[in-house]
Amino acid sequence: MRIDVFSIFPGLVDDFCSVGLLGKGRHAGVFELRCHDPRQHTTDAHRSVDDAPFGGGPGMLLRPEPIFDAVETHDPPRPLLLLGPGGRRFDQDMANELAGLDGFSLLCGRYEGIDDRVRQHLADGEVSVGDVVLSGGEVGACLIIETVSRLLEGAMGNAASPVEESFGAAGLLEQPAFTRPSSYRGWAVPDELLSGDHARIERWRHAQALHRTIAARPDLIAARGGLSDEESALLEEFSPLPYP
Ligand SMILES: C[S@@+](CC[C@H](N)C(=O)[O-])C[C@H]1O[C@@H](n2cnc3c(N)ncnc32)[C@H](O)[C@@H]1O
Repeated sequence: MRIDVFSIFPGLVDDFCSVGLLGKGRHAGVFELRCHDPRQHTTDAHRSVDDAPFGGGPGMLLRPEPIFDAVETHDPPRPLLLLGPGGRRFDQDMANELAGLDGFSLLCGRYEGIDDRVRQHLADGEVSVGDVVLSGGEVGACLIIETVSRLLEGAMGNAASPVEESFGAAGLLEQPAFTRPSSYRGWAVPDELLSGDHARIERWRHAQALHRTIAARPDLIAARGGLSDEESALLEEFSPLPYP
């Protein structure tokens, strides 16, 4: 998979994607990342990428010419998605869609945003990382790249398959997990996890995933069409940990 990012701060994305699992995957060739700086495509003496909005108003906007030039020069993989609060809300479903492609590209805004001709005539779509306003699209781009890349074959190493994680195939949140010590400040790890009975541990985990999802994200339970009879029985068998 090839991922191209257009940003006036390309180092932010490049650095983020160079560490941890993401960096390992990148260097192992699980995906290729190319970051491009529209400032390299300016022609004026000051290399300016921004200008004041027509009609007045606060702040500056990214100018269209350096962005069109950068994209047309590098011919990035499509779709080319503009980061912006007005876009489709990014979630695990969208991550799965992007992970099924050979590549995609992300275009990061800054200042008060981007001249709208970029959205209308260059981008293929717009993606939002939540109902918040960031100062730039780079954090969103990193979030998208990290989420998508860990779905790619070879990205996770020995870590659990993303299928078994929150928002995975079961459509649930993942159950809580514990490590040593088995008692810390008087807070004990649930007996079931120490029982050595693997079938019982799996049933307990499934029950806690259900309890947690019902408590925290009942919308996910509704989206998967409710509970099976077996799952209802698991809820009876194991009481919930304290969930908010
Ligand atoms: C300060 S924001 C511009 C916000 C814009 N003036 C508005 O009110 O919608 C600058 C850039 O940050 C990025 N950005 C801000 N919030 C975002 C979000 N929720 N999702 C994705 N990108 C976002 C976009 O690329 C945007 O062009």
